[in-house]
Amino acid sequence: MPPTLNDLTYLARQAGNILRSCFGQLLHVDQKGVIDLVSEADHQSEQFLLSHIRQHYPSDQIVAEESGKLAGTADHVWYVDPLDGTINYVHGVPIYSVSIAYTEAGKLRLGVVYDPMRDECFSAEHGAGARLNGTLIHPSQASDLDHALLVTGFPYDIRTNPDNNLDHYAHFALHSQGVRRLGSAALDLSYVACGRFDGFWELRLNPWDVAAGGLIAMESGARVTNLAGEADIFSPPQSILAANPTIHALILAQFQR
Ligand code: IPD
Ligand code: CA
Ligand code: CA
Repeated sequence: MPPTLNDLTYLARQAGNILRSCFGQLLHVDQKGVIDLVSEADHQSEQFLLSHIRQHYPSDQIVAEESGKLAGTADHVWYVDPLDGTINYVHGVPIYSVSIAYTEAGKLRLGVVYDPMRDECFSAEHGAGARLNGTLIHPSQASDLDHALLVTGFPYDIRTNPDNNLDHYAHFALHSQGVRRLGSAALDLSYVACGRFDGFWELRLNPWDVAAGGLIAMESGARVTNLAGEADIFSPPQSILAANPTIHALILAQFQR
């Protein structure tokens, strides 16, 4: 039996409870890179998720941030980010999430992003709309950049790769109502889906960052593409642009200048 949206919601809420119970405690933190961290909480959340998925869906493939690709059929793939927003989390900033998506034959079917601090569960099933705690959500109606609140993020190689998004950030900071940097791409996408943000873009993300939030944004009615305007948000170099359709066109035009 394939998983249901209720199954993903249960998993995201349970993993979120693990994160919330460790939040604010002194945790062991390892550095994957100078600014790329992984904490004990990432591992605990991921272990819970992987053992549950393995037990109930033993033949599915899992792509998880801390464990990589785990063997299974490529027709049924789970994308798991056990803690999206690790830097916030280890600093005690209460903006982070759990992100879980399920794909069938390469197509996004189910996605859940759970924010344990606000008890906000964003979810979507292909073809059935996007919801926040069960209620249908929609993107904003903003129709020009001067009235648009945007959000972005920066890649972990920001110090060494000149294509680090600072130029785009500077441009949109001067041509919008503001550009936030929340620190959780999954929440950035979910906030576009419910109209809190009018648009989100980022360069070089990973599939576990965008799979669930991408489906939630698409199902809400937002437009979601890569920065070339193509539907494929999974192929490297993974960039993403999600916004209400009008703002999407305006942001994309800037990238295509
Ligand atoms: C990060 C967050 C952040 C984004 C980074 C991601 P992590 O994920 O989503 O907002 O800017 O690019 O890697 O490392 O906290 O799971
Ligand atoms: Ca992430
Ligand atoms: Ca993570």
